[in-house]
Amino acid sequence: MSSASRAATDLATRIAGRCDELARISSMPDGIRRVYLSSEHARANDLAARWMTDAGLRVRQDAAGNLRGRTAGDDTRPVLLLGSHLDTVVDAGRYDGIVGVLMGIAIVEMLGDRVHDLPVTIEVIAFSDEEGTRFGKALMGSSAVAGVWDDAWWELVDEDGVTLRDAFTAFGLDPARVHEAAVDPATLVGYLEAHIEQGPYLERADQALGVVTSIAAARRFTVDVVGEARHAGGTPYEMRHDALLGAAEAALAVERICIAERHVGTVGTMHVEPGAVNVVPGHARFSVDLRGEFDDGRDRVWDEITSAFDAIAGRRGLRVSVSEVHRAPAVFCAPRLTDAVRSGIATTGEGQPMELFSRAGHDAMSLGLVTDVAMLFLRNPGGISHHPDEFVSTDDVALGLDALLAAVLDVAAGQGAST
Ligand code: GLV
Ligand code: MN
Ligand code: MN
Repeated sequence: MSSASRAATDLATRIAGRCDELARISSMPDGIRRVYLSSEHARANDLAARWMTDAGLRVRQDAAGNLRGRTAGDDTRPVLLLGSHLDTVVDAGRYDGIVGVLMGIAIVEMLGDRVHDLPVTIEVIAFSDEEGTRFGKALMGSSAVAGVWDDAWWELVDEDGVTLRDAFTAFGLDPARVHEAAVDPATLVGYLEAHIEQGPYLERADQALGVVTSIAAARRFTVDVVGEARHAGGTPYEMRHDALLGAAEAALAVERICIAERHVGTVGTMHVEPGAVNVVPGHARFSVDLRGEFDDGRDRVWDEITSAFDAIAGRRGLRVSVSEVHRAPAVFCAPRLTDAVRSGIATTGEGQPMELFSRAGHDAMSLGLVTDVAMLFLRNPGGISHHPDEFVSTDDVALGLDALLAAVLDVAAGQGAST
């Protein structure tokens, strides 16, 4: 087993403590939930801003609520972005995204005074909304930074009916200025993100670290099934148009088609109305999250799924309507930066690293629309994530820090050679 440097080991221990500290900033009493533009978002930014400042970074919250810390010095140098996100799913783990942000800060500390001699400026970004937990649309923080904000999102509503526009204002941000969060791609070297794997493959291969080759193409939908609410006792089966049973059959169709087509599809929410024990459900609303390696394959699978929905609706006398809430193309990691991550891992003695396609979404997807991106994955015991038992060991974070530092130095050296 390879072992990490002393500096990385000390910083990894501190990162574990900081993950615990951030885990206490939650809107759930017995779990972690920290969503976009909430008071918890503000508190997490305040805490991370302190850590960034202590690391010597110049810190600001941008026009989309992302927290950004830059190394001081020559502002004409090209910028290498490091980061991940601080928002969470509901009843989340404490490492998804967070560990990548804290590793970015730790890299600046490992560089120490060397940071001023680099031919690049480093900017660490804590993205504000990767998960899409509050408004359904994911990657809003990084979309603002990439300059691909869509003004149609302003009318998205959360579960309390609050629009994104009103949530912005309540958080103290000005919707009219969101475009100021965008980077000028011409100033960028690229974006490096460290993240837990959120799957079992590194652990199965007995490897601490891996290199991401590409990130899944994703789409998310809200599906409404309308039937007829009726008396649960008095209505014979041949007269029923049970929206819940139609939705349940549709959810099974998502699973069947995705398994056959080697994609992943998940029905993660389901709401039934009127929601009474003695009433046949008249309305069901559910979500579908669909991911595949390539955009065209994902879209073909979605067409197959919607044909299945139509067939189910026809058979049961239901009406089905679908609205798309999120779409992100597959992103392929850049060879130049990926090589740097690969050789960074090699410097830790981990040998030839495993290459993985990420089925999970990441902020790198948005940045990949405007600059080169690469990702370093950390082993995730049991492959469990989006769950309170999510874990990454301090030893693996320490190795990851050594690998990421070597990758940063490699990318910076390449930049020095090209300027
Ligand atoms: C984010 O974690 C996602 O893949 O949904
Ligand atoms: Mn996540
Ligand atoms: Mn994540």
